[in-house]
Amino acid sequence: DISLNASIVLLPGDGIGPEITEQGRRVLQKVAELFGHAFTFESQMIGGIAIDETGDPLPQETVNACRSSDAILLGAVGGPKWDDPSAKTRPEVGLLKIRKELGLFANLRPIKMFDQLADASPLRPEIIKGTDILFLRELTGGIYFGPSGREGSGDEESASQAMVYSVPEVERIVRLAAKAAQGRNNRLTSVDKANVLEPSRLWRQVAARVMEQEFPDVQYDVVLVDAMAMHLINRPADFDVVVTGNMFGDILTDEASMLPGSLGMLPSASLGSGGPGLYEPIHGSAPDIAGKGIANPLATILAAAMLLRHSLGLEAEAASIEKAVEQVLSDGLRTADIARGGDSIGTVAMADAVINSIK
Ligand code: NAI
Ligand code: MG
Repeated sequence: DISLNASIVLLPGDGIGPEITEQGRRVLQKVAELFGHAFTFESQMIGGIAIDETGDPLPQETVNACRSSDAILLGAVGGPKWDDPSAKTRPEVGLLKIRKELGLFANLRPIKMFDQLADASPLRPEIIKGTDILFLRELTGGIYFGPSGREGSGDEESASQAMVYSVPEVERIVRLAAKAAQGRNNRLTSVDKANVLEPSRLWRQVAARVMEQEFPDVQYDVVLVDAMAMHLINRPADFDVVVTGNMFGDILTDEASMLPGSLGMLPSASLGSGGPGLYEPIHGSAPDIAGKGIANPLATILAAAMLLRHSLGLEAEAASIEKAVEQVLSDGLRTADIARGGDSIGTVAMADAVINSIK
């Protein structure tokens, strides 16, 4: 095995952010020791804490550190303290800006149902069992960034916003999705609304060409977005990798995030071309439990595994973390959010258990 040097920026942020990010760092450190790598960690400010200290939710020093890093592990930003509507800026602005600064055009969200927690899902266990989907949502194009405007006034007023996709925008995310599929079960589903929308017809055409020319080995199909919304509820276990545009991805990934029954288990990644990727749990800063030592660190720990896989190319190391998480769940260990009223352990104890299970 080749040993690797990597510099990782930590952006703990607000609320439970610092508690969970620290557990992610400890897990990465353990992996480095076991597999003979050298990771250096540097903490930087983002969000509410950065507003308090500097007036800016994304100080330039943070941007510079992120740019020269190999990967970034983020906790969460925001909280009631910064919700004042008259405030000049908000913690979330830091997050939007860092994604933009780094050109992160793809959002990856694995939705994995751990069989050990199948009874937490709002779906029946026999339907949810085996669900393991990787969503790739296009993040910097589509209707959210299309030209918009208003015309007329009063009863005559109208508003519009256009969905725009270009060939290179579709190519790069479909390539990323197809490569991800090759590292999994070799199946890719593209979701669009090509029966109605012109940009979806372009998307479908470009995706089909990329798949045929560059990934003939990957099993590929297309599904309309309204049908996909239904399939996620009645046969979620049938999908492997799913790629879609910005708005469809926003809605479908939020729908899918409810399937496993706990936000505390779900990681995500945002990737660009070449530069560092940004890894984080999908949940927020959970101000209601901040500082209590009871937050579930597993989403952040699973985000750390994604960091190893997608930014550092360390597949065996990533898998070792995921196996360790499966192991502690099989051992019956639960934080309060997934305990369903049974015995629970705290943030650090859960991370300790994972660290001790990494082989
Ligand atoms: P949230 O995800 O922070 O919390 C929702 C519920 O889930 C709360 O009851 C919380 O205690 C629980 N929860 C979340 N993560 C948990 C974990 N790891 N372990 C155990 N329980 C957990 O969403 P909410 O309450 O809507 O937002 C709180 C703050 O977080 C707001 O300021 C919001 O803007 C911000 N936020 C930040 C995000 C980010 O940084 N990416 C994403 C979503 C919200
Ligand atoms: Mg959303």
